[in-house]
Amino acid sequence: MQKLHSYISFFDSGQGGLTLWEDVIERFPRLSSIYLGDTARCPYGNRSAEIIVRYSQEAASFLMNFNTKILVIACGTASSVASKALSEQLDIPVIDIVNDFSKYVKNYIKNSSEPTSIAILGTQFTVKSQSLFHLLRDSHFQDIWQKDCPLFVPLVEEGLTQGEIPEKICELYLSQIPKNIEYILLACTHYPRLLNTIATTLNKLLKRPVFHQGTEKKVLLSNENSSSKKPLIILDPRPCIISRIKKILQNQNYESAFPTHKIYCTDSIIDFKNVAQKFTKRKFQHLEKIDLLEKLINKTAY
Ligand code: DGL
Repeated sequence: MQKLHSYISFFDSGQGGLTLWEDVIERFPRLSSIYLGDTARCPYGNRSAEIIVRYSQEAASFLMNFNTKILVIACGTASSVASKALSEQLDIPVIDIVNDFSKYVKNYIKNSSEPTSIAILGTQFTVKSQSLFHLLRDSHFQDIWQKDCPLFVPLVEEGLTQGEIPEKICELYLSQIPKNIEYILLACTHYPRLLNTIATTLNKLLKRPVFHQGTEKKVLLSNENSSSKKPLIILDPRPCIISRIKKILQNQNYESAFPTHKIYCTDSIIDFKNVAQKFTKRKFQHLEKIDLLEKLINKTAY
């Protein structure tokens, strides 16, 4: 009998969580994965808590129809409000990008001798819910500036991440950023797709070198307009999610000799593929459009 695959499963409202998915499967090449992008109901970020929790529960129920062993809420918005409910309902590890990110940020910054100023960029819901803000608020952070950037998600879903339009939108959102900011936190998984545009805009506005701390070393992204040496560092949750998964895998073997990767979306497959493949190095083995509610009602077997 064929051994059932064990899956690490991800969900997001759309393409954004693929930034996380891709890093995870690169890092753990023997894991099988499922990714659900709920494109028919994207964006989540301007909806109410009640609706976001319901959408998240539906996404998780779909993913639990597979042999899911680890669930990653690859969405800052859903992480902000649905993580507790999903962790209580499911008897597998549920990883969200808000709790682990806050610990990682605190740890990353703890060596700085001076109180630190940080900026949080997220969806309307993430900012309004103050989810990350509450976890980060402590004496070491002098100032926390938060900004919701609702147009970033549709830009990414359209594949429009460079050029005049995203640059103007970035300028609009970041024009009020305090001059003393040292760290910029990307609290939405769509935003890393706009990393270069965000970095160029920050460099223009603050005239400081802008770095990104990825899973390995820190990379200089923009320095052209700098008149000061004081760096600005962009952080996103990918490194901490990788370490969390690594810890879980120390005690569990979910590896497969022939890992499979299945991607599901809830709206047009062509649109999803065109945009996702523009950003993702990996070719999709299996991409399917599903009717999420129909799958849940009929509990379709896989
Ligand atoms: N990628 C998402 C997040 O991290 C979803 C954004 C949205 O759908 O508004 O918040």
